[in-house]
Amino acid sequence: MKITIVAGARPNFMKIAPIIRAIKEHNNEGPKIEFRLVHTGQHYDKKMSDDFFEQLRIPQPDNNLGVGSGTQAAQTAAIMVGFEKELQENRPDLVLVVGDVTSTMACAITAKKLCIDVAHVEAGIRSGDLTMPEEINRIVTDSITDIFFTTTQEASQTLETSGKTAESIYFVGNTMIDTLFQNLENLQAPTWWKEEEFTSKEYFLVTLHRPGNVDDMNNLVNLLQNIMKGTSPSRVIFPVHPRTKKVIDQSGYAHPDLYLTDPMPYLEFLYLVKNAKAVITDSGGITEEATVLSVPCMTLRSSTERPETITIGSNELVGTDPVKLVPFLVKVNEGKWKKSSIPELWDGHTSERIVKIIADRYQ
Ligand code: UD1
Repeated sequence: MKITIVAGARPNFMKIAPIIRAIKEHNNEGPKIEFRLVHTGQHYDKKMSDDFFEQLRIPQPDNNLGVGSGTQAAQTAAIMVGFEKELQENRPDLVLVVGDVTSTMACAITAKKLCIDVAHVEAGIRSGDLTMPEEINRIVTDSITDIFFTTTQEASQTLETSGKTAESIYFVGNTMIDTLFQNLENLQAPTWWKEEEFTSKEYFLVTLHRPGNVDDMNNLVNLLQNIMKGTSPSRVIFPVHPRTKKVIDQSGYAHPDLYLTDPMPYLEFLYLVKNAKAVITDSGGITEEATVLSVPCMTLRSSTERPETITIGSNELVGTDPVKLVPFLVKVNEGKWKKSSIPELWDGHTSERIVKIIADRYQ
């Protein structure tokens, strides 16, 4: 059989890496699954893309659509035009998309309109917040997907309740955690770690990139001021997403205990998570990684599509008002963070399960 795997933005890369690895292992034994890897080019900077391909040993894409940045509509349209051409020239039996970024939705629509089956990895999760582009991407993608791979029983339930058949839904676990387990032994300190005299469990790690938190300069500066006040006297490491960098640069905000740095490659970033006293973030994926690493995590959002990171894991939903961080920071500082555990099937073998299911269905 032939499968086309899509990756477009940073959080996709750690989700596809173990699937490609599992396909290669599968091909050593039985009938081969032929695959093509298509990078849409949604993320294109070395630090947002190439570094991940290199560290996670993802093969070079067979096609890079090179769409680059743009408004939601422009980016979606450019991906669809490029991906339609790709599929017309190289028609697969199945297109596999992961996560919830614009590339996920655009490629799912394009494939389905050419009557090609679509598999969605990380299907069925919902935040209920339609102001986030990712939520629209999730809903649209799942409305036309043929095979759903879910990270939790709850996500499977959401899909069943929406009318999807039980035969199309597979609760398999989390491919991002496959990547985490595969790389845990190789995490490495950033080049500046020693020189800047950072010490394990004595700093907070911050990431912010959601439009709602970062696009408005006054709002972002207010967030940072409150984070610095609440975490004082600890130092804070903040690897800055390009979207956020534009706004911080414009504001000129700086603080002596705030260490701003470029987006980190995978092995360095996970090193920073693992060794942090706690993480403050608006990312979804990082709440999953912090959960598996048992690191206290505070999410600066008012909803989450990943409730298991709160009910089972080490995450807490703070809201978008940074003043609300205070009671959570007190718990971190007093060493009274809740006990957490790892959600079911987040065991490092999700990709093998996915590949076996695909092989059984198509071969
Ligand atoms: C995207 C995803 C988000 C994911 C995030 C992780 C969507 C709707 N959002 O958001 O779910 O959590 O990626 O990073 O798909 N930029 C660069 N270099 C790059 C990529 C982007 O400078 O390599 C700049 C762009 O010029 C743009 C901004 O960053 O101004 C935002 O990029 P975009 O891909 O539109 O969305 P993200 O905010 O990165």
